[in-house]
Amino acid sequence: MKYQKQFDELRELVLANKGPEDIESRVVISLHKNFTNYNWVGIYRLEGQHLVLGAFQGKPTVHTRIPVGTGVCGSAAQSQKTEVVPNVEADARYLACSLETRSEIVVPIIKGGAFWGEIDIDSDAPDAFKKDDVEFLEAVARLIAERL
Ligand code: SME
Repeated sequence: MKYQKQFDELRELVLANKGPEDIESRVVISLHKNFTNYNWVGIYRLEGQHLVLGAFQGKPTVHTRIPVGTGVCGSAAQSQKTEVVPNVEADARYLACSLETRSEIVVPIIKGGAFWGEIDIDSDAPDAFKKDDVEFLEAVARLIAERL
């Protein structure tokens, strides 16, 4: 994996956690700090038919509760598959969080076979999320799911 060093740091942080909210905050802080292209990093949890924002790094967003099926976040909750949006302006589903955002990735967190929540990352750079990012972030999502 390309980002093995960053993954190893995350694993140490997650293993030392003090509970689920602490895991969320350790993960978003580490991702935001280690990747200059990851301008906004947040974790949404599924509560009923809504995604509810937990820990995040970056500017505050109005999208703190997103219905399943709405936006890129809600689509990933429905499909339970990673969504990569290379150009947010070209995606009709996109809910704007910041005017600077150009691309986005949403990675589901599947715990015990069920959708638990997702990692959402926005970048100010166009097409910021490549195969290496998908591979790394899906490994991070599995790490979180094992420890929640
Ligand atoms: N862009 C997301 C909304 C969340 S904000 O990016 C923080 C979406 O389209 O679902």
